[in-house]
Amino acid sequence: MALILALWTMSTQAQSQPTNLIPAPAAYSELLGTISPNRLEALRQKVRISEKALRRRLEGRELADWQMKSAYWLEVGRKGVKIEAADEEGVFYARQTLKMMASLDSSVACCTILDWPRLRYRGMMLDVSRHFQGMDFVKKQLEMMALLKMNRFHFHLVDNPGWRLQIDAYPKLTKLTAWRPQAFFWDWEKDEIGGPFVEEGSEALRPEGKSAPGAYGGYYTKQDIAELLSSANERHIEVIPEIEMPGHNYETRAAYPELACSLPGGGKDPWELCPGKESTYQFLEKVLLEVFDMFPSQYIHIGGDEARKNNWKLCPDCQARMKAEGLERVEELQSYMIKRMERFAHAHGKRIIGWDEILQGGLAPDATVMSWHGTEAGLQAIKEGHDVIFTPTHYYYLDYHQDPAQFRPVGRLVSLEKVYSFEPVAKSISEADAHHVLGVQGNLWTEHVQDAWHAEMMLYPRIFAIAETGWSQAERKDWSGFERRATALSAAARKWGYTVYPPSQQP
Ligand code: ACM
Ligand code: ZN
Repeated sequence: MALILALWTMSTQAQSQPTNLIPAPAAYSELLGTISPNRLEALRQKVRISEKALRRRLEGRELADWQMKSAYWLEVGRKGVKIEAADEEGVFYARQTLKMMASLDSSVACCTILDWPRLRYRGMMLDVSRHFQGMDFVKKQLEMMALLKMNRFHFHLVDNPGWRLQIDAYPKLTKLTAWRPQAFFWDWEKDEIGGPFVEEGSEALRPEGKSAPGAYGGYYTKQDIAELLSSANERHIEVIPEIEMPGHNYETRAAYPELACSLPGGGKDPWELCPGKESTYQFLEKVLLEVFDMFPSQYIHIGGDEARKNNWKLCPDCQARMKAEGLERVEELQSYMIKRMERFAHAHGKRIIGWDEILQGGLAPDATVMSWHGTEAGLQAIKEGHDVIFTPTHYYYLDYHQDPAQFRPVGRLVSLEKVYSFEPVAKSISEADAHHVLGVQGNLWTEHVQDAWHAEMMLYPRIFAIAETGWSQAERKDWSGFERRATALSAAARKWGYTVYPPSQQP
């Protein structure tokens, strides 16, 4: 009985969470004494990188290799801070914890923390095609991601309203489509048909470019990308670029009309590349080679969503390709394209991620699926032995409104509590398959989100909930505790200069 009581006391102590940390750590134990936040940051840090030492702290808990890399043990005492980790990455996360502690609590309790991530992929996606965001904005969000122990930044760089990445082999992509006359996306796109673009360097642009009246847009140069990657690397964040195919390519066709189907005007649907023509693959491969050179990420996102495929039923090149490859349905033609691009990616040491439509017509053998329509496609992909990132619209689409009274409410109501309630490892997933749940991601699409103020208000505080779901152990999740902690972190984030919903004023 005494032993049971002692074990019970230990476990409740380890579970107490008197700090405001997000994500909640795996184990927290309070020690005697407190420290002022100012002193905490100035305390001497004793860092030890040793897998053996960390294993002792773990007391027999078995972690996967990727978890060991990120895990850390931290002791905050009145005289100093001790950090033990198996890798620099763990030290980095321990320091993020200290940084957050120093900002959230008026007095920090001396404590020990033992912590490791639940899921490998803890992501945020930003769409910079509908509305462009500059370097400072992106770097600022990387900083917050790191503090939240998020580690994947999915960069939605190209889409119908503008190509936003320098590609030397195809300069017209940015020269002809990175700028447009209307600042607000919906003033440009009417009835799902995109509007005109403004050529870079033309009269409509001021000499200094960006934000000129009569021209809106921008793009990232290779130097910009190198600078962003350096910022991301320091924060242990992998940047995954997305190059959309075959749909969402209105802008590509505006720059290179020969990539459309061989139909009058390129066909009725203005969004798609022709998967029949060999020249389409030559284009994509050349673009990807430059993208691979710029981004060292393990993954390349190839899009794959929302291609209507109507043109392909009529296009002689598509029909010839289908006949030659023995394909019966246009879905199989899309699958042919994705599988072919996967082989190309593999030949260059990369793996592909695609939106869940890539299941239609047959999944590419090694593809990772981003499950967005809901979770069913993701669950199916897991059954087929694939890795999945869950980003379901009704929980993780951060363009959807969090409150009907907010500025420009669109989509379904996705409140903070709703975001927090998503459980990525569904009960139907067997223990043996659970490792295929690679992780979670919040998506900020920007059709309605024009500026930094609006973008941050959509990200925060909801991304806090996604960070906790990705990092914290399932048994640590607790809505009422999280709500309290999210309020404290929101106040701190406002002090750091972020707009957090509800913002103090509307525009
Ligand atoms: C998507 O929302 N079309 C992936
Ligand atoms: Zn075609």
